[in-house]
Amino acid sequence: MIEKDFIPKPYTNSIENGSVTWSSPSNIALVKYWGKKAHQIPENPSISFTLNNCKTITNLSFTTKEKEGKFSFEVYLDGEKKDDFKPKIETFFNRVELYVPFLRNYHFKIETSNTFPHSSGIASSASGMSALALCLMSIEKELKGDILEVDFIKKASFLARLGSGSACRSLEGDIVVWGSHDKINGSSNLFGVKYPYTVHQNFKNYQDTILLVDKGEKQVSSTVGHNLMHGHPFAQERFKQADKNLSDCITILKDGDLDKFTALVESEALTLHAMMMTSMPYFILMKPNTLEIINKIWAFRNKTNSKVCFTLDAGANVHVLYPESESMRVLEFIKNELVAYCQNGQYICDVIGLGANKL
Ligand code: PMV
Repeated sequence: MIEKDFIPKPYTNSIENGSVTWSSPSNIALVKYWGKKAHQIPENPSISFTLNNCKTITNLSFTTKEKEGKFSFEVYLDGEKKDDFKPKIETFFNRVELYVPFLRNYHFKIETSNTFPHSSGIASSASGMSALALCLMSIEKELKGDILEVDFIKKASFLARLGSGSACRSLEGDIVVWGSHDKINGSSNLFGVKYPYTVHQNFKNYQDTILLVDKGEKQVSSTVGHNLMHGHPFAQERFKQADKNLSDCITILKDGDLDKFTALVESEALTLHAMMMTSMPYFILMKPNTLEIINKIWAFRNKTNSKVCFTLDAGANVHVLYPESESMRVLEFIKNELVAYCQNGQYICDVIGLGANKL
């Protein structure tokens, strides 16, 4: 498929007003997306676990406008007006207008809330942008009369990508690939696809406990970070490595080899941060407590033979990943040894999930 295929034919129905609600989760990448080309095309493919508990719930209500003119919308988070969210949504509307050409016909009220604490340092862009894209698709579905389920999800992922790259991996569960890769059937740079191959039982209900190390605003946004991969001295090698890691992931997911899983996932996390530290200008998003936690996890693994491992997003928080069979003892370890490094002792227990839902 190419971008043009997402431009719809003239709509057959007209609607005056309405309201739709979607709940969409966050996701955590195993092989990381870092670096992009124009139009949100990733430099390398990525793969993620869809989460279950960290979600955004968005209600989009719309009423016909008198005149088409400019985009017209208001945004609320937990019932509070959020004008500072508007520029990001305006950019998103500009990027997707060609594909959902009804945007100027309506006034929109976007009411959103997250299940995770606001400003917890957990990026809400993946869950938020995917929820909004799904709401737009529900409107398009009414305007078209109907649309096949597969086409609906594909286009919603395509739109979500234009809001925030990683958001295109949040619509379905439980493992999603984004970015074209030789060995993954159907993979595309334009949208996320459900991982199409066998996954070992070891990964069933895989746990992700998110340790909230730093809840402050990130000093460097991921948009800036991605752009610093242009002309980065290690960029080309990194893109090749990600491609190979995704190939290796296929075998690891099939065999359920948790030692190889740990090596791949932790190396990916540290490579992501190494790219940040070797950018020009360079920056560090990890905090001292991020490193304390990593060292504690390594010591615990050495001592107990546990299969617990960590990954990181573009921030200081640590995602602690472990099989369901180890839930009790890893949670015990987290409470006894890691919570002390979390801001206000906060952490969120999550698990691999099945994707977005229409409410
Ligand atoms: O979706 P963005 O543009 O916020 O980029 C996020 C990139 C990482 O979270 C660091 C990695 C990933 O693949 O999710």
